[in-house]
Amino acid sequence: MPSFSELAGEQKVFRDKGVLSPHFVPSQLLYRENEIRKVMQAVAPALHNSKARNLFVYGKTGTGKTCVAKHVLQKLDEEKNLRARAVYLNCRIYDSRYKVLQKVISSFSPGSAKTGYSFALLYERFLDWIEGLGDDGADGKHVILVLDEIDVVKDLDNLIYTLTRANDDLKRGSVSVLGISNKVNFKQRLDTRSKSSLCEEEMVFQPYDADQLKGILTQRVSTAFNDGVVLPSAVNLAAAIAAGDNGDARYALALLLRAGEVAEKKKVEKVSEKEVEEARKAADEDKAAEIVSSLPEHQKLVLYALAVVSEDVHYKKLVEEEGEKYYFSGEVYERYRAMAKKMGQEPRTSRWYREYLHELETLGLINSVESGKGVRGHATLLRLSYEAPKVKHILEKALLAE
Ligand SMILES: Nc1ncnc2c1ncn2[C@@H]1O[C@H](COP(=O)(O)OP(=O)(O)OP(=O)(O)O)[C@@H](O)[C@H]1O
Ligand SMILES: [Mg+2]
Repeated sequence: MPSFSELAGEQKVFRDKGVLSPHFVPSQLLYRENEIRKVMQAVAPALHNSKARNLFVYGKTGTGKTCVAKHVLQKLDEEKNLRARAVYLNCRIYDSRYKVLQKVISSFSPGSAKTGYSFALLYERFLDWIEGLGDDGADGKHVILVLDEIDVVKDLDNLIYTLTRANDDLKRGSVSVLGISNKVNFKQRLDTRSKSSLCEEEMVFQPYDADQLKGILTQRVSTAFNDGVVLPSAVNLAAAIAAGDNGDARYALALLLRAGEVAEKKKVEKVSEKEVEEARKAADEDKAAEIVSSLPEHQKLVLYALAVVSEDVHYKKLVEEEGEKYYFSGEVYERYRAMAKKMGQEPRTSRWYREYLHELETLGLINSVESGKGVRGHATLLRLSYEAPKVKHILEKALLAE
């Protein structure tokens, strides 16, 4: 059991951990003045009793799209204009036209959009509310739907079509869309008509560079951590790592949070480069575990065979190349075949096996090299990218679950 003084010691590192959570929206967003202005300009007409402009925002993950949108919504809210109304929806949760409409209506008048209503009825309610037959005294509202991660909406063409049509059907008021996505190619799936309506105006959020990430991290450090805990070199390293990984601010913040937790666990009082390195390693492993768990079964088995071979201390048929231990692909294939049979599965042919190896390598889970001369002609050599016991452990859990 811990003592209270030990528990108190654990609070030496963090002052307010919540500030590092991915859902926290800082009151000041750095380096996004232009983006904020552009979103505000698109929304502004609603404050002057006309239709807001449709805007489509695209940018890689962690470039600040969601927090910029939420920031602008907050500002709009502060205007207390009854006619200019915005709703934020994450389309991972509201992933169809029906769910979007239902959520919009229930957020305006709770209880008025029960499941089971037909779409036509929902649509009528939606129009009625905008036109102002409700009791909030605001007729002819200008509604802005912020559809975050819009690419996951299953019937997006229908949704866009409905919203466009609503503008024709409405006697007063309007509907506009602020669409947000990090999938560059998703627009190709859309009808030309909905594409041109949704993407009337577009804006791209560029990835942050290392200096900007450093600024974003520094801004949080003073509230998230106690004074002097995080060394400047640790901030620099976290910023540099995230800059190398698509300029993702979420990743940079997660690294810092994790580095703080590492320091807590080790009971050290400073977060240094070392803790950031460890945090990076742990984050990498988490990502790998996620990929491994979602592999098709036979690829899992191939990976498992390599892990077993790598862990087998009696295993003689390994080759050292540049200090790394590699194993013969042919031997791993034999292990795979034996394991598949044991599990009552028909092993795949060696042609499939090579295909699997290629995919596993593309996913960064294994490395392969062609053997140099002298080693049985041209053999393929394999090694795991992560530690064998960890890979084995994840796979055992995943394979058992199947
Ligand atoms: N300019 C900024 N200033 C301060 N914090 C920022 C800034 N940009 C992003 N962040 C922080 O980085 C994290 C990720 O930002 P956000 O969620 O807005 O990314 P996103 O572009 O929506 O990513 P995704 O495409 O994955 O949804 C959040 O915790 C956010 O607070
Ligand atoms: Mg987002």
